[in-house]
Amino acid sequence: MVAGAILDSSGTRILLARRARPAELAGLWELPGGKAEVGETDEEALRREVAEELGIDVGVECELRERVALSDELVLIARWAHVIAGEPAAREHQAVRWVGAEELSTMCEQGYLVPADAVWVPELVARLRPA
Ligand code: CDP
Repeated sequence: MVAGAILDSSGTRILLARRARPAELAGLWELPGGKAEVGETDEEALRREVAEELGIDVGVECELRERVALSDELVLIARWAHVIAGEPAAREHQAVRWVGAEELSTMCEQGYLVPADAVWVPELVARLRPA
């Protein structure tokens, strides 16, 4: 599983998407992404998933420090990314939004993020420029 920490052009905000499914995660915000298919690199998987889900083309950069084991077979990683073309739209999510460091911290503290993604918040907040 690969998720994207997608920065805006000013480097002040990150893109979050609100999950529509499954029931236990619906309504919570995540870094968008999905599963790599057989033969696909995580970079290719992330570019394909955000094109399908959000209608954007992204450039993919290095991996964030933390990895999350979702199950015995599934590891969740995140890669830094930036928008090359398109405006993000919620095609498979309930909504999308750009958030700055302060808002991201508050959403995490208040339990609005999917649980696994909370591990990345300190690194995201540290990288985001003040607005
Ligand atoms: O669409 P696909 O099955 O490829 O992946 P998904 O439904 O977006 O994600 C599968 C699982 O990964 C979710 O049920 C979440 O448990 C987890 N996930 C997560 O914890 N944080 C993310 N940013 C993305 C996925």
